Amino acid sequence: CGIVGYIGPKQAAGYLMEGLRRLEYRGYDSSGIVTLEDTGEVAITKAAGRIDQLAAKLRDASHQGGVGLGHTRWATHGAANDTNSHPHLGGQGEVALVHNGVIENFRNLRDQLEQMGYEFISETDSEVVAHLIAAELKAVLESLGDDTTHDPYAPLVEAVRAATSQLRGTYGLGVVFRDYPEVVLAARLGSPLVIGVGSGENFIASDGSPLVGHTDRITYLSDHEIAVVTADSIRLHDREQGPISHKVSLLEIDESQVSLNGFPHYMLKEIFEQPETIRAAMRGRLDEDEATAKFGGLNLTPRQLQRVDRLVLTACGTSWHSALLGEYMLEAFARIPVEVEYASELRYRNPPLSTNSLLFAITQSGETIDTLAALREIKRKGHPTLAICNVVGSTIAREADGGVYLHAGPEIGVASTKAYTSQCTVLALLALYIGRLNHLSFEAGLRIIEELKALPDQVEKALDTNNEARRIAAKYAGCNNFLYLGRQFNFPTALEGALKLKEISYIHAEGYPAAEMKHGPIALVDENTPSVFIVPQGGVYHKVISNMEEIKARGGPLIAVVDDPSGRAAELADDVICVPSVSEFLQPIVAAVPLQLLAYHIAVHRGCDVDKPRNLAKSVTVE
Ligand code: G6P
Repeated sequence: CGIVGYIGPKQAAGYLMEGLRRLEYRGYDSSGIVTLEDTGEVAITKAAGRIDQLAAKLRDASHQGGVGLGHTRWATHGAANDTNSHPHLGGQGEVALVHNGVIENFRNLRDQLEQMGYEFISETDSEVVAHLIAAELKAVLESLGDDTTHDPYAPLVEAVRAATSQLRGTYGLGVVFRDYPEVVLAARLGSPLVIGVGSGENFIASDGSPLVGHTDRITYLSDHEIAVVTADSIRLHDREQGPISHKVSLLEIDESQVSLNGFPHYMLKEIFEQPETIRAAMRGRLDEDEATAKFGGLNLTPRQLQRVDRLVLTACGTSWHSALLGEYMLEAFARIPVEVEYASELRYRNPPLSTNSLLFAITQSGETIDTLAALREIKRKGHPTLAICNVVGSTIAREADGGVYLHAGPEIGVASTKAYTSQCTVLALLALYIGRLNHLSFEAGLRIIEELKALPDQVEKALDTNNEARRIAAKYAGCNNFLYLGRQFNFPTALEGALKLKEISYIHAEGYPAAEMKHGPIALVDENTPSVFIVPQGGVYHKVISNMEEIKARGGPLIAVVDDPSGRAAELADDVICVPSVSEFLQPIVAAVPLQLLAYHIAVHRGCDVDKPRNLAKSVTVE
């Protein structure tokens, strides 16, 4: 879900709608806004569906106030309809709230509040929070009686503090109060929230993108903090410690990074950015004198890293695929045992880890709740944790002991592309760095550096496959099943290729180790089930060719991504995409490009909403 808020001299509704469009990638089942009107009323407009639906409704609604909140929803509790959309009202309408996260104990709380006479109209967990804050505010005001010597907003802070301390789960909250029309409160636990620091106006948002063009000063809210935001002041309270100071950082996103720049979709724009984003991931990190990589923020000395005897890589979704490739790279160069774990599994496991185990959490957004929880769990057990992360200042980036930023710029298309290749690049750099601390020779290190330096240009050339990918997409767009097959370094590529297709075209696709396909997926093969082979030259080339033969013998169409246009793989395949030939460990980064393009063009062909595929969200901040 995405949250946006405004307080200042302008009409809030205009900014809220602009902000929601920027945040729509975080969820797009339904949306809504609330403004506190100059007349003293609380005006709410909500609509199921995309932001355009809300915009259409707003043409007939009046929103005149300078204080407001907006929300775009990714449904957790209750269907995506108008009633379940946010904002939700609490009490008799004296509280209006937007919520991101999941309240696990909402059933009990709802029962208690219903017994107290509060009436619920939605099925959401969020409405519970609105009523709870209203109930707590009522109690605080009653206990204060006629005493007016306190800070005017103290009762609001106390109500939010008392309410949130009863919640089990996660929340990012924006709250406005009908009777206090010159203040917005924000609170968080587990779900991201930032405050945009303007002059004479202030903003709240789930991430920095809605602030672009309005302010470049940003304050990150931490867990258990409550912010009291007026047009010209921001005050923070820790739930336990009371008032605390806040730090203002510079928001490093510019307008061109959040606009389409002439591309029809963000996904295509981001695919084409990859030569540059890979360059950015390596910038300043290659050390030719020492034939190694260097990093500013690991916060571990070379000696500490040498003592590490086990690496755990944890992530979700596409980031998990980069972790899997990282395993192959780290084992090859650093010769350290590596374990790759889905964060959602790791968080509830109790893996026996040696004292010298080190965790890497890999995440584009830095907000994925499962990855955050896994990081916390491993940290609790005393192991150092590092993040490989794109979003600067995100929760995981801040909670890890150290880490590496991708510097890929905002990724807006829901299906991850440039963040993936940047993650793979950073993992290659780490493999080189840790390798050079252990077994890797100077000469081998230099060779890897040369290969890394050439990578952005090779990825640029891989973009030339766009027309071929479009042609092949048109040919197979009607198929309902695909297999993606590769071995060794390209097993993760197969998984990622299949995931891209699934995510944006809704075609069932399975990624499999090419040889393992005999043990099940081969039963799916028929003339309508294309198999996409990633089959560059190298140690397993001939083995993969045997797997291609097995599919061909059963009448399955073959699409091959090759680096040798005159080799046997190209000869066997019905359709061929040729990418530049690079070293085996970097081939997955080059091969990812045509697979992204293939998925993109198939989705466009099928009329799918490429940037906002159904049921998905960019940043999954619920468990
Ligand atoms: C969501 C996104 C995926 C992403 C995954 C992990 O499912 O749709 O594209 O790979 O979350 O996100 P992260 O931000 O942690 O990399």
